[in-house]
Amino acid sequence: MKLIFTFLKPYKAAAVAAFSLMLTELAAELLLPYFLGRMINEGVLAKDMDRISFWGGIMIGTALLSFAAGILNSFYSAHVSYAFGYDLRSSLFRKVQSFSCSTLNKYPPSALITRFTNDIRQIQNTVFMSLRIMAKAPLTVIGGVIMAFVVNGRLAAVFFITVPVLIGFLYWVFKVSRGMFRNMQDRVDKLNRVMQENLAGMRIIKAFWRRDYERIRFERANEDLSRATRTAFQFIEASSPVLFFVMNMSLAAILWFGSQQIGSGQTNVGQVVSVVNYALRVSMSMSMFSFIITSFSRTKASADRIGEIMRIRDVSEETGAADPNLAVTKGKAEFRHVTFSFPDKDEPVLKDISFTVNPGEKLAIIGATGAGKTSLFLLLPRLFDVQSGEILIDDTPITAYPVKNLRDGIGFIPQTPFLFSGTIRENIAWGNTKAAEEEIIRAAEDAQIHAAICNFPDRYDTRVGQKGVNLSGGQKQRISIARALVRKPKILLMDDSTSALDAETESRLLEAIRRYRCTTILITQKISTARMADKICLIDDGRIAALGTHEDLLEASPLYRKIAESQSGKEWHYAR
Ligand code: CTP
Ligand code: MG
Repeated sequence: MKLIFTFLKPYKAAAVAAFSLMLTELAAELLLPYFLGRMINEGVLAKDMDRISFWGGIMIGTALLSFAAGILNSFYSAHVSYAFGYDLRSSLFRKVQSFSCSTLNKYPPSALITRFTNDIRQIQNTVFMSLRIMAKAPLTVIGGVIMAFVVNGRLAAVFFITVPVLIGFLYWVFKVSRGMFRNMQDRVDKLNRVMQENLAGMRIIKAFWRRDYERIRFERANEDLSRATRTAFQFIEASSPVLFFVMNMSLAAILWFGSQQIGSGQTNVGQVVSVVNYALRVSMSMSMFSFIITSFSRTKASADRIGEIMRIRDVSEETGAADPNLAVTKGKAEFRHVTFSFPDKDEPVLKDISFTVNPGEKLAIIGATGAGKTSLFLLLPRLFDVQSGEILIDDTPITAYPVKNLRDGIGFIPQTPFLFSGTIRENIAWGNTKAAEEEIIRAAEDAQIHAAICNFPDRYDTRVGQKGVNLSGGQKQRISIARALVRKPKILLMDDSTSALDAETESRLLEAIRRYRCTTILITQKISTARMADKICLIDDGRIAALGTHEDLLEASPLYRKIAESQSGKEWHYAR
């Protein structure tokens, strides 16, 4: 909570202005019943027209002042709350961007999206309402009670009993409801997750005819949310009749004591009218308390959820870089006894991995599904850090490089291509924002996608749907290859990136990549692809089972022989 409100600091001046205007408005409102009492006593009861117009004029002036202060206050409150929301959102975005993959693993996108939208909006509204009306309610209560005392202390004594009782009661309501609202926000997360998955997976849901199944899943999340919301709001709503009851009782008490005092000549009608007027204002403010409590409980829950993200200290990305200018120049990659397990998992997915790829060399990594090939790729750009052993690029441990320089030297082609919404040109240039048009086209040609792009209606300006729906799997794969090539990387990592290509296109692609003279590590399931590399590394269950040329492996590794046999038995028999 505290952390979040440091974001208000830059707007202190405007907030103070808003607050002072609110105080002006409040003071004017609190003076009105007092003036009314004087007008009744000195003007109406004394039948003095001059006094009536005098106090009437003062009342009109005060009302106008309160009106003007109210309008200006809205203006400043809106300014503060929107600027605050903007800053908080930007800062949260930067924070989330700085997270390492292991931290991001812990928060599903839906949970983060809810924080960006729902939670921030909640806090923003509360900031606005606090400056506008919320802070006014308790001050009206205090001011009203004080003014009532000034007018007639004995009548106002009634407040001494009711106000503390109500404050205690409201505090209890606040404490209980806070947990309920946190629960509610978590349900919003869950509903968002189901929605997101449903929209993203629409095709497969249709293909499997799982509409009903998904509807039930959605309804369950929806019901959970509405149940949590209902519990919270019912609880809050149940508190307002209690408030009204106590306040009405105190009004009745004031009127009863007031009439007795008038009878015995201890007071006059004007004073009783003033005190009753104050009592009405106090009870009106009290009735706003349930709304205020709702807002504060919800805001507390939302602020805690955002604070939880803001407080995460994620160091792995930025540690260790001694020399800020250290960059990848040659592209030699070396693994030394690397053992790695994903965060929060015990079983290592890679065990004692050692190999070296020299600059410009091509290494193929082959192995069964789940063997740990993709995991091995994640380690080179330091998307995850190793538990033991060491990875070196150009004979320097990768932890010594500034992360940006390290990643600048690497062209990463993920197993599942991901394209951004925008044009094809933008998607390729995303790899290197400084690339000139010829370089973009060159990369597309080398990725064997140029011809296909030229057949699109708008060529390079063709828009890619939010998830590249209008492209085939192989086209997406090749655009994502072009995006890596346009970086002119020293080390190219291709994770099964030619799986959707026919043999001819694949060999043309690999031939084109040769011209980049970069070190290439490619994961593949196909022996025919692996054979085009200088060396092949066979991974089996997280360990290197064999390392060498195709011929070496055929000789040395029964597992490799088995894979080769299953893929093209004849071919290698004849080759031998
Ligand atoms: N794994 C994990 N957490 C992740 C990713 C993977 O625990 N975030 C585990 C998987 O359960 C798997 C192992 O790590 O057992 C290796 O996964 P991966 O390296 O992705 O396997 P690949 O060899 O790339 O498999 P495939 O050929 O299917 O891509
Ligand atoms: Mg993989």
